Amino acid sequence: MLITGASSGFGAAAAREFGAQGSKLLIGARRVERLEKVATEARQAGAAEAHFHFLDVSKTESVNGFTEWARPKLGGSQPGATKLHVLINNAGGALGLDPVAEGKDEDWEAMLQTNVLGVLRMTRAALPLMLNNPGGSIINIGSHAGRYAYEGGAAYCAAKAGELLITRTLRLELNGTGLRVSTVDPGLAETEFSLVRFKGDAARAKKPYEGTQPLVAQDIAEILVWVAGLPDHVNIDEMIVKPVDQAAFHKIYRRKS
Ligand SMILES: NC(=O)c1ccc[n+]([C@@H]2O[C@H](COP(=O)([O-])OP(=O)(O)OC[C@H]3O[C@@H](n4cnc5c(N)ncnc54)[C@H](OP(=O)(O)O)[C@@H]3O)[C@@H](O)[C@H]2O)c1
Repeated sequence: MLITGASSGFGAAAAREFGAQGSKLLIGARRVERLEKVATEARQAGAAEAHFHFLDVSKTESVNGFTEWARPKLGGSQPGATKLHVLINNAGGALGLDPVAEGKDEDWEAMLQTNVLGVLRMTRAALPLMLNNPGGSIINIGSHAGRYAYEGGAAYCAAKAGELLITRTLRLELNGTGLRVSTVDPGLAETEFSLVRFKGDAARAKKPYEGTQPLVAQDIAEILVWVAGLPDHVNIDEMIVKPVDQAAFHKIYRRKS
């Protein structure tokens, strides 16, 4: 199986959790030293194999190079001979929380490149490795933010709404192939997401989680294992997962300290 964005957060936890199921893992992200550590942990957890390679989903060349690196590890040099059973398009995230009036081109472009075009590129590159493999799964990581707007979230919400519609499109296009297509859309989850969004400002990054109990990466990893492990004829189309404390996007229960 192939997981993008496996150097931290959901992707790293998923690598460890699928590893514990004995999976053969191919993981990618830009921070290769982190990937090496995750691959070691996945092997220790029980992965049959865990291979890692640099991957930048915002660049077509990198995505195609990653897929070429992956192909022989999947058991064949010809597309028909390979077997990629699960693709998890997880790489992505948010940058900044500026209102549109103050938005930065570089933030908008990076969010659309990773969360939208990254999913398209990776899926296009991986599909030839997945066809003729009924019961295979493409699981995209969307977000609650793709379904509800919030102030400062325009580009990220638009990107994750794009991911949702890509998932729905693939579900239609792949009907009849036996491939399954899902989106798992988390709400508030404590990973490195907020630290990346606030560009390393640790104090600001902690604020969204203050006084409340968010999801953790392991929660999503367990769900991904469940979604991929269902019988071949069962497709989880769309799943929204929120912490109990988050009743709606803006309605988060916070305990007084
Ligand atoms: N945490 C939340 O509250 C939350 C909620 C809903 C959805 N999500 C989504 O869940 C996914 C995982 O996020 P997370 O919460 O686990 O955050 P995270 O800990 O920051 O993990 C993000 C992962 O994406 C990778 N990534 C980012 N840009 C990339 C690129 N251009 N090419 C390849 N890999 C890239 C990062 O690796 P490198 O930096 O090493 O490349 C990292 O492994 C994202 O799509 C995010 O939008 C998060």
